[in-house]
Amino acid sequence: MKVLLIGSGGREHALAWKLAQSPLLTALHAAPGNPGIAEHATIAAIDTADNEAVLSYCRQQAVDFVVIGPEAPLVAGLADMLDDAGIAVFGPSAAAARLEGSKGFTKDICSRYGIPTGAYRRFTSAEPAKAYVRDQGAPIVVKADGLAAGKGVTVAMTLDEALDAIDSCFSGAFGDAGAEVVVEAYLDGEEASFFCLCDGEAALALASAQDHKRVGDGDTGPNTGGMGAYSPAPVMTKDMVERTMREIIEPTIRGMAESGYPFKGVLFAGLMITAKGPELIEYNVRFGDPECQVLMMRLESDLLPLLYASATGGLANATATWRDDAALTVVMASKGYPGPYTKNTPILSLPGEDAGHKIFHAGTALKDGQLVATGGRVLNVTATGPTVGAAKDAAYAALDRVEWDNGFCRRDIGWQAVQRETA
Ligand code: AMP
Ligand code: GLY
Repeated sequence: MKVLLIGSGGREHALAWKLAQSPLLTALHAAPGNPGIAEHATIAAIDTADNEAVLSYCRQQAVDFVVIGPEAPLVAGLADMLDDAGIAVFGPSAAAARLEGSKGFTKDICSRYGIPTGAYRRFTSAEPAKAYVRDQGAPIVVKADGLAAGKGVTVAMTLDEALDAIDSCFSGAFGDAGAEVVVEAYLDGEEASFFCLCDGEAALALASAQDHKRVGDGDTGPNTGGMGAYSPAPVMTKDMVERTMREIIEPTIRGMAESGYPFKGVLFAGLMITAKGPELIEYNVRFGDPECQVLMMRLESDLLPLLYASATGGLANATATWRDDAALTVVMASKGYPGPYTKNTPILSLPGEDAGHKIFHAGTALKDGQLVATGGRVLNVTATGPTVGAAKDAAYAALDRVEWDNGFCRRDIGWQAVQRETA
């Protein structure tokens, strides 16, 4: 099978690395790609924001299957266009991608299908939203409806914070994403991310992970795209996984199909495990980055037939097997991230890949033969081990051999799990 992979992050490097191990793969192409992905794939010089250009490349190269990594091309309808052209594609239609693109849309699906989530109301102007917040009291959560690069959510511990957040959304802080606001009950518990594949009718549970969104040690400082992750998440016991499938994922798949937007691709559920059980915080319609990197390290099964079944049907009969080992990834970012940072700083040396660790590239490029850092999040140093603590030690041992002066990382990825293991 000839596959085209869309994306250029650490998530896509991990997917490329895993797809390249498939005996069913005849050729792997990727766009835009990065130097890590280029170790496994032919880089296609196409503009991935141009759906027509992607389609014409697929026709020219006789691509059998397109795997879309990030959400932007999904929201822009790339999967719809390829599907209409008869090319198999991994990833949802633009209509189904609203599960990530509109928090109000997702909450309405939850309410119609009895999916546990915080009680909520949708608003298109400030005064009624403020009246509702005053009525409900703090803590309470204010969310811009649309995609706001992870910045549109305020978990308000006081009434004033909530009122300010409403003003800030409606005064355009998040552009069009804030034209509608969702106000939602505060959920108390432990967070976990859970991933499953869907083919429009059936869902196959993959695995759980936990990420670290804050830039600083001890979960302090501004939010980022994610500074590290590990899998599995200890809070996602077998029972909790079964409940999540039955109470959250399966009704969502049924609801989306009945509403006329069957969901195909990967469903990434952000969960709060409360005293009542799993409740949905949000959906993403793509693999997490860096969560994907730890999932791919643990996946024993061939990835390609699983993604292909998600695109074309047959997941009901598919199984995925996982290593018992834990996996952990540490993100190395350019100093200054998530604020401004210097680009094109040289990465002088990466450790050789011996047993147990793997370095996935995110924002890197080759300039005159020198590996340089071009992005905020740059390298994902990933390792496995019999415990999260062992995977952590192996990841940091590899990371300490990276020679890159302008890089930094958190030193405490996995701390909650390690605390549990040593308690
Ligand atoms: P989201 O972008 O929806 O994932 O929200 C970002 C973060 O805000 C989540 O990872 C949670 O930590 C927090 N959050 C979102 N919704 C709630 C909620 N209803 N209760 C408590 N925390 C929440
Ligand atoms: N790491 C969080 C995300 O991919 O959304």
